[in-house]
Amino acid sequence: MRYLPLDEIEEGMFLARSVFGEDGRTLLARGVKLTKNYLRELKTMDYTHLFVGDRPEEFEENGISDQTYSQVLSSVREVFLNAAKNQNLDFKEVLAVVDFMVDEVLNEDVMYNIVEISKHDNYTYLHSVKVGIIAMIMGKNMGLTRKQIKELTMGALLHDIGKMCIENSILEKKGHLTYQEYEMMRLHPKYGFELMRGAPGLSLLSAHVAYQHHEREDGSGYPRGLNGDQIHLYAKIVMVADSYDAMTSGRSYRRTLWSHEALAELTADAPEKYEPKMIKLLAQSVALYPVGSVVLLNNLEVGLVTNVTRERVKIEFLTGTDKGKRIALKANGLLKIVRRLS
Ligand SMILES: [Fe+2]
Repeated sequence: MRYLPLDEIEEGMFLARSVFGEDGRTLLARGVKLTKNYLRELKTMDYTHLFVGDRPEEFEENGISDQTYSQVLSSVREVFLNAAKNQNLDFKEVLAVVDFMVDEVLNEDVMYNIVEISKHDNYTYLHSVKVGIIAMIMGKNMGLTRKQIKELTMGALLHDIGKMCIENSILEKKGHLTYQEYEMMRLHPKYGFELMRGAPGLSLLSAHVAYQHHEREDGSGYPRGLNGDQIHLYAKIVMVADSYDAMTSGRSYRRTLWSHEALAELTADAPEKYEPKMIKLLAQSVALYPVGSVVLLNNLEVGLVTNVTRERVKIEFLTGTDKGKRIALKANGLLKIVRRLS
């Protein structure tokens, strides 16, 4: 399996990871043979890279299943769109799908592993889902109870729902916001809290995640300038997950950072902005070399990461006499990853 730019993908290769539309529908399922038409279609949709393989092999899955990912994406999208239309919000469907997610995450040795495969115009839902998954894995690794993980994940999935109350012209503006627009933008945590508080089935703590996700340890955040202990644990988790995803998904004006670069940058911002404990927790929860990374090994061969858990990284050799062979790298093994190449 490889993660290739669309231009290098040939007809007849097999899709190794499903491709989802913005609304959560599966556009192309894992294992499908790529035709000229499919490739052309994906190009017009702004896809730049895909995971592909040369054989219709069973591609290893770990973590959130395609089906759950697709369901959570569509249910989050629906509540966001209803919030934008000022309709009564019903969180039942999101609550139900979070239950599936918890089952999948609790039952497996999961690390957050999603490599950006698209360049959508609207990142809001995808970003929300990714932050939800990262926060959930962090909650699990911290030893939170199932009930707590659900509260945390609901808050993480919906942390930006307040943006739906802000004018599109501000949300979609390219370039710098005026002072006034910036002030409007800074109200989205409060709007989110107001949309979520008191909703049936939703914990007030989940609403507080939306309210507090832009606060910072030293009081420099917004909207209330809370600091340290005034910020709830769930919000501390979501603020690092949110920043991590923004850095690694190319949403901001800067270049997209790799996982280890984002972790280094967040570490540099602790303890002023983030609690160091939370950065450590994030580092234990996201894959340093996500599936699809091409890595240099300390025997000077090149490998492709095919599966990652907390215990080990599986790679397939791309060079050398073992080319094509798959092995598991353990933390205490002799063979190690030196750095990521692409
Ligand atoms: Fe936000």
